[in-house]
Amino acid sequence: MDFNINTERLLLRTPILSDVDELFVLMSDIKLIQFLTWEPHTNIETTKEVVQRLILAQQNDNGYHWCVCLNYKIIGLVSLIDLRRKVRTWIINRAELSYWIGSQFQGKGYATEASKSIINFGFQNLNLHKIIIAHAAENIESKRICNKLNFTQYAHEHDAFFKNNKWYDLIWYELIKVKK
Ligand SMILES: CC(C)(COP(=O)(O)OP(=O)(O)OC[C@H]1O[C@@H](n2cnc3c(N)ncnc32)[C@H](O)[C@@H]1OP(=O)(O)O)[C@@H](O)C(=O)NCCC(=O)NCCS
Repeated sequence: MDFNINTERLLLRTPILSDVDELFVLMSDIKLIQFLTWEPHTNIETTKEVVQRLILAQQNDNGYHWCVCLNYKIIGLVSLIDLRRKVRTWIINRAELSYWIGSQFQGKGYATEASKSIINFGFQNLNLHKIIIAHAAENIESKRICNKLNFTQYAHEHDAFFKNNKWYDLIWYELIKVKK
């Protein structure tokens, strides 16, 4: 399967080990991670392990990741994570959309543009039936993306995670594949 996706302004492509240096610069930025599950990277070995995990997830069909490239330079990562095909006899075919864009490239519509194409790829090429998104209640930029992508809010989870001495709520959204 060809995973390269061209959008109006961006190239989306799967990560490779030689991306580690570029990704390290972005992933060591303290401004990026307030609402993310990880801490800023302080050494390049961490970034290398992450990239290896991203590549493995794709091989195992439990997650798909795309480097968001602007003029061939990586500016962020958009992913379909926690992909579930089945639970015992139930067919699930669901994944969670997650995204980050380097702080100096934010506010230009890149996350929305990349996400739109990846959602389409997920439904058409990966045979997903549903895509979900969860964002911290305070994360207004992410909330805006969910709205722009026409996701429907289905839950407000209280005290969903603890970070930096504080419990955060998560807002959950879903988008179901449209029948053609
Ligand atoms: C969330 C994130 C990916 C958005 O990336 P981006 O490329 O800047 O997103 P877009 O430009 O496509 O859309 C952001 C929207 O939020 C809006 N926005 C930005 N700051 C805002 C604020 N303080 N208040 C309200 N809206 C705001 C923008 O105006 C834009 O909406 P618009 O197109 O209607 O103007 C980026 O901020 C990021 O990487 N944050 C850190 C990681 C993160 O929190 N990831 C999400 C985890 S759920």
